[in-house]
Order: sequence, then structure tokens, then C-alpha cells
Amino acid sequence: MSNTTNTTTSGNQTLTVSLGERSYPIFVGDVGFSDPAKLANGIAPFIKGNQVAVITNETIAPLYLQQILAALGNRQVDVFQMQDGERYKSLDTYTQVMDFLLEKKHNRSTCLIALGGGVVGDLCGFVAATFQRGVDFIQVPTTLLSQVDSSVGGKTAVNHPAGKNMIGAFYQPLAVFADISVLTTLPDREYAAGLAEVVKYGIIYDADFFTWMEDNAQALAQRDEAALTHIITRSCEVKAAVVSEDEREGGRRAILNYGHTFGHAIEKLLGYGRLLHGEAVSIGMVMAARLSVEFSGLPLEDCQRIEKLLQQLNLPVTLEGLALKSEDMIEAMGMDKKVVDGELRFVVADQMGTVRVAADVSIVALEKTLAEFC
Ligand code: NAD
Ligand code: GLY
Repeated sequence: MSNTTNTTTSGNQTLTVSLGERSYPIFVGDVGFSDPAKLANGIAPFIKGNQVAVITNETIAPLYLQQILAALGNRQVDVFQMQDGERYKSLDTYTQVMDFLLEKKHNRSTCLIALGGGVVGDLCGFVAATFQRGVDFIQVPTTLLSQVDSSVGGKTAVNHPAGKNMIGAFYQPLAVFADISVLTTLPDREYAAGLAEVVKYGIIYDADFFTWMEDNAQALAQRDEAALTHIITRSCEVKAAVVSEDEREGGRRAILNYGHTFGHAIEKLLGYGRLLHGEAVSIGMVMAARLSVEFSGLPLEDCQRIEKLLQQLNLPVTLEGLALKSEDMIEAMGMDKKVVDGELRFVVADQMGTVRVAADVSIVALEKTLAEFC
């Protein structure tokens, strides 16, 4: 594996995303939210100029903005608070942030800090990628999903009425600070939605990690600190390894979309917001596992293990009560942006921990899978 993890004496973890001159560290654990001096020491080496803009939202600011401000010292610090919600990951908010930075006279040496979940992180990252042709940015993810997924790997974007993440850039942060203490205030559904992506890493990359989650499902559901540090670290290791291999999703990175082709179709048909992304992905991962049993020989027992673990983590695994039709799912998947040259591509599992992208899944296999759910 091309990335490394060092454990410090305090139990904190530091990983590296290896991307040549764009390599960066991910700090996991107690990164200093309870100690401004520690956070200040951690962040300071990454801020080159005297200007910082913190991008956050109205929910997170009252909880965690003070901790960040206390760590930023006497620099020029400006705070942009966006409204909370996926619908604000928009070109409109992007323009507002740009206007704000220009009004506050930020220059090319400014550093943006994304304090929030994936919505804030994706938007702030895209602003950083494009403000004055690109400025530094740091991710301070505050949801489990953003700590294990969206803050790592450099995908930044805003949505367009035609689709999610339609306008964006690959742009890596300078560092990621994932403090597990912030997860205590995360609503239960948001927490479980983040766990779905963690389970994904076990399925796509690390069968032992999957077994570990089965053995520790109760600790995970209860947000045990040691369990959280372990899953965030391992998830980031897996994501860093995949991204280091294929930063711009020319091939291998697509395995991170396991369950997502189905999940995106569910989200689209239900209307964005009815299910959380991680909830839709949870159902999508079970669908992908059933498809894999048909298509690529995944043992039925492994499919059942996936379903059981997701249920233990309080995630949905069926379409019960959602009234979705198989033909609508297929049509919705046909519109998925992962369609390359007219081929529908699915990430299928050969066995637990090993997946591949298949372009030759037949419509018959797909219909058979969906018939079990719709
Ligand atoms: P989110 O950013 O909307 O956060 C979820 C909710 O939790 C929000 O209401 C937020 O205000 C609140 N919140 C955040 N931190 C909190 C905390 N510590 N305590 C209490 N409340 C808190 O959702 P998300 O799940 O973090 O991210 C979803 C977004 O991430 C989507 O836009 C998705 O497209 C994107 N995403 C990006 C990537 C990527 O690689 N860039 C990967 C996966 C998902
Ligand atoms: N979340 C999928 C990716 O980062 O590629």
C-alpha cells in the first residue's frame, strides 16, 4: 500500500495520502478540539499567509467555530456561514462565497478552511480550486461520512439542477483534521449513514476489516471512541490507497462507487433528501451484493453477512414502503453519470474484500436482482 499510518502515543493516528507533490496528511483522533493550543500547532504549518477564511454552516458554527477561531491566532480570519442542506451546495452559494472573499480582499495566499460535513467540504473545495485559479484549503470534517470519505481524495463539486456534483474539480486539500469528539453531536441517522461508507471499505478492499466490524457492531452503534478511531483510520487508509493509485477515476477509483449506482437511482427516484445518501447506499450495497451472487459468484453467505451488518448498524436494507418500480430503477440507472460510452457499469464483488468494475452485466441479471427488492 502506498500510504502510511503512524500511531502516536496519545492513540491519535496520522496517515498520508501519497500523491507526489500533492501528498497530504490526515490526522485522526483528538486533533485538538478540546485544546486550542494543540489545534493551533497542528494547523499552523499549513497556513502560509496571513489570511484565512473559514467556510461553515449555521448548524456547525455554534458547535465548533469557536474552537477553530481560537486556534487561528492573530491572522485576518473571515467566516462565511452558509445555510444548512444539500440544496445549498449550489452555484448560487459558490458565487456568494466568491463575492465574500473578494469583498474581504482575500488574495492568492489565503487559506480556506472547510468546517463541516460533505456539503461544506465539497463546496469549499470547489471554491478553493477556482478562487484566483486555486488557493490552499484544509478540511476539518465534522460528520462521520466526511471523515471517512468526502474530505479525502480531492473530489470537489457543487450541484446543478440537472444532477448532483455536475460542476466540480479534482483538487486536493493541504491536510485533513478529523476530530472524533465532534461526532458526539451528530444526529443518529447521519451517524449511521456514515457507517454505510465504512462498511463499503470492508466489502471492496478488506475482508478482515469487515469481520472486525461484525465483531464490534455494538461498539460502533454506540460510538465507542476506540472503535471510531479504528474505523476512521482504516477507512481513510483504504480510500487513500485507492486514490493514490487512481486520483482522477480513470479506472480503479470507481470501486469506491460500490452500491452507489443503485443508491443514486434510489435517491433520484425518491427525490433527494427523502433518504440520506448513506441510507440509499446501504440499500444499494445489498442490491449490488445480490447482483454479485448472480453475476460474479459472491457466496450467498457473504451477501447475507452484508445485509446483517448493515441492519445491526441501524441502516435500511430493503425498499419496503418506498414504492419503487424495477423499470424506473433501470431507467434511473441509465441516466447515471457513471455510464461510459453507453455501457452500464457496476461494481461487483467476487468475494468479500475483492471487487471489480463490470461493464457486461446483463439486463436480465439486473432485472432478476431488482425483482427481489421492488
Ligand atoms: P452534510 O454535510 O449535509 O451534513 C449532514 C448534517 O449534519 C447537516 O445538517 C450538518 O449541518 C450536520 N452536522 C455536521 N456535522 C455535525 C456535527 N458534528 N454535529 C451535529 N450536526 C452536524 O452531509 P454529509 O453526509 O457530511 O455529506 C454529504 C455530501 O457529501 C453530499 O453532498 C455528497 O455528494 C458529498 N460527498 C462527497 C464525496 C467526495 O468524495 N467529495 C464523497 C461522498 C459524499
Ligand atoms: N466517494 C467516491 C470517491 O471519492 O471517488
